[in-house]
Amino acid sequence: MAIQERLATGKGKFTPRYPELGTGPVSYEDCISEEFFAAEREAVFKRSWLKVGRMEQLPHTGSYFTRELAGLGSIVIVRQADGSVKALHNVCAHRGNKVVWQEHPAEESQGSCRVFSCKYHGWRYGLDGKVAHITNEDQFFDLDRDSLGMPSLHCDVWAGFIFVNSAEHAEPLRAFLGERFGELDAYPFEQMTQRFGYKTTVKGNWKLSIDTILEWYHPPYVHGRFINPDVSKAEKMVPPPDAYHYDLFTSHMLNSVPGPPPLPPREPGSLGPAKRDQRWIYKLFRAGLFGPDDIPDVGPMPAALNSGRIQSWGNDAFWLFPNFSVQIWARNYYITYQYWPESVDSHTYELDIYFPEPPTASERLAQEMVADTTIEFAMQDCNTVEATHSALATRANRQFHLSDQELMIRNFHKVVRDTVAAHRNLGDE
Ligand code: FES
Ligand SMILES: [Fe+2]
Repeated sequence: MAIQERLATGKGKFTPRYPELGTGPVSYEDCISEEFFAAEREAVFKRSWLKVGRMEQLPHTGSYFTRELAGLGSIVIVRQADGSVKALHNVCAHRGNKVVWQEHPAEESQGSCRVFSCKYHGWRYGLDGKVAHITNEDQFFDLDRDSLGMPSLHCDVWAGFIFVNSAEHAEPLRAFLGERFGELDAYPFEQMTQRFGYKTTVKGNWKLSIDTILEWYHPPYVHGRFINPDVSKAEKMVPPPDAYHYDLFTSHMLNSVPGPPPLPPREPGSLGPAKRDQRWIYKLFRAGLFGPDDIPDVGPMPAALNSGRIQSWGNDAFWLFPNFSVQIWARNYYITYQYWPESVDSHTYELDIYFPEPPTASERLAQEMVADTTIEFAMQDCNTVEATHSALATRANRQFHLSDQELMIRNFHKVVRDTVAAHRNLGDE
């Protein structure tokens, strides 16, 4: 069946369940307007819980890392003596120097310490951010020592993920995550300590990058080289649209995806002759886009996974508003995607792939293969985002069309627009 016919089988299956989304064409002005970008930063990024790291990055009391977040500034995340985590604005109370940095002030850093010392005049701060030493204190006038420190912002941890929120009054992290996302905390994230990280700058609006992981409509075209260079064959290899499962839980969302079964266990000498063929490489390494074929045992999975009961389940992509996705794969690893807007037409793209510790060298190579393939696919998406942004910015076309299987894109842009509008209305009162 041609893909257009198969697409028709999915028409109207999911979107009409959410009448507030509508089915009409949408504007992408939210991706190209400078004015909207400024409003979005205030309404969305300065008021949402944002994931900034994992607890594995803070093994001991005094372990810390910094994040340089566009529009939010530099933040220090530090583990306290009681095991809890604090987030501090990275700014000195004396004359405003950035307190924690290594060779270059604009670069993120990490380490372990007992106090933070400002490199300018030697003021020192405890792990809780309170001032602990003031150089030549007796030469100052009426210092209120108790009020001096590196200001803190809201910080909380869920399932080992560290979140911050720079709003003055933030709702509790658990309430923000909601019940459905919160159910994921039974997943063995803490066993996945083998991390492959990738980070780059993409010249396009951050929401356009997110759009690429909210649908599986594009793979035969954007990733054809990896699936099958013959597009008509690639189209046949991608499951039909009604093989997927979608669930929108207010701002957050879930998309479950089918995937191929793993290869049977390897028989000695059964590999066959080497070919200059991507799929032969996958067989050699016993790994590819859907994960390693030899699946590690990490214990029972939470009941919340594969809620659409897809027979040949590939992954669950949980989308957490505004900029974070956790993709839990059937083959016992997970990927996180995160998007940090720098300007209306650029963002930082972060991709992290987490596996359990590989017990053998061949399993380590399989993980490398998965990481390499995933990053390659992701960069093919980013290329398309740069092409899309440059074309959208011409405003030659102003209305765009979303099919049933693109309903998460419809919802995502609506939630951003609604959040900005609600914030504007509050400001008008
Ligand atoms: S600015 Fe930090 S000690 Fe002077
Ligand atoms: Fe893609």
